[in-house]
Amino acid sequence: MTATIERSLVLVKPDGVKRGQVGEVLRRIEAKGYRIVALQMREATEDILAEHYAEHTEKPFYGDLVEYMMSGPVVALVLEGERVVEGFRSLAGTTDPTSAAPGTIRGDLARDWGTGNIENVVHGSDAPESAQREIGIWFPDL
Ligand code: RTP
Ligand code: MG
Repeated sequence: MTATIERSLVLVKPDGVKRGQVGEVLRRIEAKGYRIVALQMREATEDILAEHYAEHTEKPFYGDLVEYMMSGPVVALVLEGERVVEGFRSLAGTTDPTSAAPGTIRGDLARDWGTGNIENVVHGSDAPESAQREIGIWFPDL
């Protein structure tokens, strides 16, 4: 069997950066065994978010999502490894941090703060095709 090495685009979202959780997220990724091939702290812009969250721009929560994602810097990462897209989604846990399983990043490090936004510390690509598209947005030189 031929190994297919995959890539995933991960963001530590502004809540994770503000709460000092970058190290803990990186630790979990490295402990799992995925390779970090790019890393950059930066501010998201409205244009970048419209591309990144293209599937959500028409949703009622989109305005709040943009405000949340621009509330501070994010740390963007590219991970590499076999089945890393699926593997990181598993490490991250489900979208809603209140019900995300303990042991996952969202289950252990995030909660509902009553802001109306789902603040859940990390983003992870949901399919290899999404990963390729998102890596092109955040790391055009890769
Ligand atoms: P992500 O794309 O950030 O990894 O999160 P996800 O796949 O688990 O969830 P997705 O459905 O793609 O939603 C993207 C982000 O938008 C916010 N959200 N808010 N208020 C709402 O109903 C709502 N739904 C989603 C969350 O921050 C979610 O992670
Ligand atoms: Mg998503």
